[in-house]
Amino acid sequence: MLDNIIEKVLVPEEEIAEIVARLADEINADYSSEDKNLVIVSVLKGAMPFTTDLMKQLNVPLELECVRVSSYGNSTESSGKICMKLDFDRPDFDKCDFLVVEDIVDSGNTLTFLVAHLTQKGARSVKTVTLLDKPSRRKVEFDPDYCGKIIPDEFVFGYGLDLFEKYRDLPYVAVVRPEYVKEHG
Ligand code: IMP
Ligand code: MG
Repeated sequence: MLDNIIEKVLVPEEEIAEIVARLADEINADYSSEDKNLVIVSVLKGAMPFTTDLMKQLNVPLELECVRVSSYGNSTESSGKICMKLDFDRPDFDKCDFLVVEDIVDSGNTLTFLVAHLTQKGARSVKTVTLLDKPSRRKVEFDPDYCGKIIPDEFVFGYGLDLFEKYRDLPYVAVVRPEYVKEHG
């Protein structure tokens, strides 16, 4: 059944594991000092699998928060206006080193918004990690601090990323067949 939907597997399960291990090494090194207070901010729903796999490989003390955002626009183009659907609050923003965990950076609007939001709340530091990045799609200048893999401008799904809300459960990232989007979009 997936044969009608998948053009090709872009990031197989083994490569995802390698990427996650490399990113965890970088993050472990940067947050190992005693004065850091790492707070992971997972961007639901897409970053769920990446967040859990990454956290299992982090060996520094950390806390977990979740946010949900949506950008107005149609399914493939974001309008730039971000709406926060789930936020968190805490009394110690000035003592937190936030690391926002995202599945993919596209226009750059979502992470630009979240970094500004956490900074405005008084965060001591804010960094971002993304599994995938499509730099050719940027509408605002944005560079993630940690990046798993740069991919071309193709719509991908699986490993948290949805295709019309489905297939987040796939263990790999695949490119959708353009005909499928035309028929179902
Ligand atoms: P940005 O604000 O345009 O950078 O959007 C990032 C969000 O758009 C991601 O968190 C995804 O939810 C969604 N997105 C962007 N590209 C894709 C894709 O190829 N597949 C699935 N979702 C995507
Ligand atoms: Mg997302």
